[in-house]
Amino acid sequence: MKFFIDTANLKEIQEAYALGILDGVTTNPTLMAKEGITGNNNILKHYVDICNIVDGDVSAEVMGLDFKSMVSEAEVLAELHQNIVVKIPMTLEGIKAIKYLTEKEIKTNCTLVFSAGQAILAAKAGATYVSPFVGRLDDISSDGLALIAQIRMIYDNYGFETQILAASIRTPMHIISCAEIGSDVITAPLAALTALAKHPLTDSGLAQFIQDFEKGNK
Ligand code: E4P
Repeated sequence: MKFFIDTANLKEIQEAYALGILDGVTTNPTLMAKEGITGNNNILKHYVDICNIVDGDVSAEVMGLDFKSMVSEAEVLAELHQNIVVKIPMTLEGIKAIKYLTEKEIKTNCTLVFSAGQAILAAKAGATYVSPFVGRLDDISSDGLALIAQIRMIYDNYGFETQILAASIRTPMHIISCAEIGSDVITAPLAALTALAKHPLTDSGLAQFIQDFEKGNK
């Protein structure tokens, strides 16, 4: 399973990359705004800065809503760096754009996916990744992880090559459940990724080992 970090914060990306377990980055306009990155030129530069940190796929989102503007933005984004994957929203115009970009060998990430039907369309269009939003479904009392399992089954039924990128991951348990289901990728904030390492028995066991080592060396 690939681990992507879901942030536009360069320090957090560096920190996760230094762990040696990071395979890529996802961003979105909200995450960019949170870092104070505004204006098209600054946003494009920020994507390049991220690509220069991480050796892996970096999702960069188009803002246009129609086929023509999505495709022209996508072509600019794809030219920025070989690691760029163009994030296209799940709309009918988006599906057309994904199909077109796939034929041009530009990698895509179909975003804002909330149903199995949408995931089937993304795969039919040839998206590199499909991003179902687990946490946002949970937020409305729907079952985000059940959607990941449903898409996994459908993709396996037909051998679709589109990779399932479980997005809107909020907790370490989301990550573990996605691994059980067989999600190809998860994208999570740094806190959820690092929380995987934590266990109180590890902490108390380590404290005991240190104490016993020091006693024996007095
Ligand atoms: C990633 O591609 C998504 O934009 C992101 O995971 C959304 O997460 P959120 O629901 O926590 O905003």
